[in-house]
Amino acid sequence: MCRAAFKTWRTFDTSLTAELFQLMRLTVNDRVHDVAPRDDETLLELLRDRLALTGTKLTCDRGECGACTVLLDGATAYSCLTLAVSCDGATVRTVEGLAPPGSLSTLQQAFIAHDAAQCGYCTPGQLVAAQALLDHSAHPTDDEIRAAMSGNLCRCGTYPKIVQAIRAAAEAGAGVGPSAASTADGAPHGA
Ligand code: FES
Ligand code: FES
Repeated sequence: MCRAAFKTWRTFDTSLTAELFQLMRLTVNDRVHDVAPRDDETLLELLRDRLALTGTKLTCDRGECGACTVLLDGATAYSCLTLAVSCDGATVRTVEGLAPPGSLSTLQQAFIAHDAAQCGYCTPGQLVAAQALLDHSAHPTDDEIRAAMSGNLCRCGTYPKIVQAIRAAAEAGAGVGPSAASTADGAPHGA
């Protein structure tokens, strides 16, 4: 390689490396992580492939089903549509972080008691979205529950049982009232 070509290659390589592997910090389920994601890496890929948090599911990969829902700075987000590099400094909570390790939250117990999961593939996203609702509203009406959960699809059609489970969890005190970190309507959003 001639000197000019080598210089050009080095310049390209250095900027490419800095761009592709920019170090960032995020807090996931109360643990701080320093990671260097690719520019095109989604938050979902980062959670599943780098941090081994596989509770968050990939299904449609285009912001339609809600299986990948996480709490991003307290608000619901579709992690399949969220670029990891946009989460520098953010706080993320996944389904693994809804209760201390080895235990189940009141909401999770209510999903079991009311048989709100069949195949269970949508359930992590449903739980995260439901917790976001309860963080905002301690005693939501059924209409409010249905509206807040409208961004989470269930191919098994367990919608009535999901509403029952969320209502029961609220009655059992799973709702902690308004939270500055929660979205106003609980509806998921992409980045
Ligand atoms: S995987 Fe379906 S919305 Fe993200
Ligand atoms: S329980 Fe099967 S997709 Fe919801």
